[in-house]
Amino acid sequence: MTKAALSSPTWSTQTAFILAAIGSAVGLGNLWKFPYITGENGGGAFVLVYLACILLIGLPVLIAEISMGRRGRGSPPETMSRLAKESGASKLWWLLGVNGMLAGILILSFYTVIAGWGMAYFVDSVSGDFIDMDAKGAASHFSALMGSPETLLLWHSVVMLFTIVVISKGVKSGIEKAISFMMPALFVVLIVLLGYAFFTPGFGQSLAFLFEPDFSKLTGESVLIAMGHAFFTLSIGMGTMMVYGAYVSEKYSVVKASIWIAVVDTLVALIAGIVIFSIVFTNGLEPGSGPGLLFQTLPVAFGQMTGGWFFGSLFFGLVVLAALSSAISLIEPTVRWCESRWSIPRTKAAWLIGGLTWLIGLATIASFNIASNIHLFGDKTFFGSIDFLTANIMLPLGGLLMAVFFGWIMSKESVQKELGLSVYWLRLFNWVLKFVTPVAVSIVFVSNII
Ligand code: TRP
Repeated sequence: MTKAALSSPTWSTQTAFILAAIGSAVGLGNLWKFPYITGENGGGAFVLVYLACILLIGLPVLIAEISMGRRGRGSPPETMSRLAKESGASKLWWLLGVNGMLAGILILSFYTVIAGWGMAYFVDSVSGDFIDMDAKGAASHFSALMGSPETLLLWHSVVMLFTIVVISKGVKSGIEKAISFMMPALFVVLIVLLGYAFFTPGFGQSLAFLFEPDFSKLTGESVLIAMGHAFFTLSIGMGTMMVYGAYVSEKYSVVKASIWIAVVDTLVALIAGIVIFSIVFTNGLEPGSGPGLLFQTLPVAFGQMTGGWFFGSLFFGLVVLAALSSAISLIEPTVRWCESRWSIPRTKAAWLIGGLTWLIGLATIASFNIASNIHLFGDKTFFGSIDFLTANIMLPLGGLLMAVFFGWIMSKESVQKELGLSVYWLRLFNWVLKFVTPVAVSIVFVSNII
């Protein structure tokens, strides 16, 4: 306990915390996953469900998760046992933290593989590979990468190495510094890309695809995917925000921070979507082409636009950095747990957990080539199955339990103290978190099982 207290870090300012949380939230989920799952699930109606999930499920759970972390001040299992003890609830609540840590490791195992694609593309862009590239060239460039387990392995390893090194350095010097310049830069490049997309012939069609809902395209599974993505993109349901919350001072407003995180995260995803689908429709590409979407579209834009070499290299560089700040947040809960619960030095813990995760990642690499016809869940590859299991089952389940704990089990006084809301807002928040959020998550779950 004394040891944990000694090394317990805190964010230096409210802004530093918000930036770090945004750094966690904004990542491959926004730039890579959101556009491709939107394409696969028919566009507008899916986006609408996703936005509803962010507002009615994501934001309330985000507020609850950060607040619980700040009150418990430990790694997710420790926080949960402390809070359970304080509220006289079952000891078993610590397992919620364990579910989260497992989910984090599983997500990270494929996250670094995809971030590795970004790194490969960064190097390709710098070496001028995308100059004058057309849609056909971009497609074959991507399949060449997928067909090379050695290259995927190399970049997966490099990204994991980076993650381990940064996380070893600790919260303040590692995470805060990197993010304060990265996020603004990412935003600028996205705006430049939006400017480019605006002048492509596919821009109008892109807007129509994303914002004109056609509910006939919506299936039960796409609602589940939209909900799962709300958890994934906000980094909630597994303890990342819980552990980041544990480093937040009492002085700051959790509600304000959460609104910032949700708004910026949603904006980045929507802009990325508009840009990518403009290129898709301009070049007659297939919106539902899957995980390769980002990588098969943007090189075309960079190949054609003035300054494409510069913006392309900058963009893929930023994708890697955005992924890195999220990767760090995926491993932090477990590293923190090793440190404070088991007194394992931080650096050792980082290598241990990182190494294990790296190993699991090998299966994801194989699922894009040598093992592409091995299916785990239904017709899903190893990568597809892990993605489904984590985003659509483990995170919503974790989030549901957090909402139940915060809404029903924690004392009114603690909730009031953490949130600091006026009576009216507190009542509204409580009502949403106690009823709307759990019921919505349960309905989506149950209807998918049936
Ligand atoms: N939110 C990140 C993204 O959109 C990924 C991520 C980081 C995450 N930490 C998480 C997802 C915790 C779920 C839980 O890319």
